[in-house]
Amino acid sequence: MKKVLKLKTGETIIIRHVKESDIDGIWNNFNNVVDEGIYLPVFFPVRSEFEKQSWYNNIKKEREICIVATHPKLKNPYNILGQCEISNLEWDAATHVGKLGIIIQTKFRDLGIGFNLIDEAIRESKKLNNKEKIILSCFSNNKRALYLYKKMGFQILGIRKKQFYMDSKYYDEILLDLWIDDYLDNNP
Ligand SMILES: CC(C)(COP(=O)(O)OP(=O)(O)OC[C@H]1O[C@@H](n2cnc3c(N)ncnc32)[C@H](O)[C@@H]1OP(=O)(O)O)[C@@H](O)C(=O)NCCC(=O)NCCS
Repeated sequence: MKKVLKLKTGETIIIRHVKESDIDGIWNNFNNVVDEGIYLPVFFPVRSEFEKQSWYNNIKKEREICIVATHPKLKNPYNILGQCEISNLEWDAATHVGKLGIIIQTKFRDLGIGFNLIDEAIRESKKLNNKEKIILSCFSNNKRALYLYKKMGFQILGIRKKQFYMDSKYYDEILLDLWIDDYLDNNP
C-alpha cells in the first residue's frame, strides 16, 4: 500500500506501512505529544532505544498495522509527519477487534492527514488482519479528535468519568467503536 496525498499547503506526502527506519520519527512524534501534556494519559517520554526497537519488533511479530505519513523532502526523523497504529487486544477471543491510536505532528494537523491515515489503517486491518471492529478512546476535551472520529462514523459507547488525573485535574475518557463493514459500505 502506497498512497500519494496532496495537501492544501501544496506539499505532496506519502502514506505507507511503517519501516524500521521510521522508528525515531515515530517516537519523536509520540514524545512531543507527551510533552504537550493534554492529549495522552502518559507522563514520561520514551527515550530507551531498546523500548523503541521492541515496539517495532512487536508490530512485525504480531503483524499489527502501523501506517505512516512521510514527507519526501524532509530528513529522517522529521519526515514522519504522523502515524496511525491498529494493535491487537490482549484477549484470545478478540482477534477480530483492533485498537486504534493516532498522532500527527503539530505543524501538520488540520490538513487531512489524520483522516487519510485512519482510512488506510482501517482498510488494511480488514484486508491483512481480518479485523471487523475498531475501538479507541480519547479525552472528552479533545474536540478535534472527537470531531474527526465522529465524522468517520465512530459511535460513542460511553464515558468513563474522571478516568485520568493529570496536572491536578480529572479527565473523562470517551469510548468509541466502528464496524469496518459499515465504514466500507459508506466509503466504498
Ligand atoms: C487528532 C489528530 C490525530 C487529527 O489528525 P489531523 O491530521 O489533525 O486531522 P484532519 O486534518 O484529518 O481532521 C481534523 C478535523 O478537525 C477539525 N477541527 C480542528 N479543530 C477542531 C476543534 N477544536 N473542534 C472541532 N473540530 C476541529 C478540522 O477542521 C478538521 O475537520 P475537516 O477536515 O472536516 O475540516 C491530530 O490533530 C493529533 O495528532 N492531535 C494530537 C494528538 C491526539 O489528539 N491524538 C489522538 C488521541 S485520542
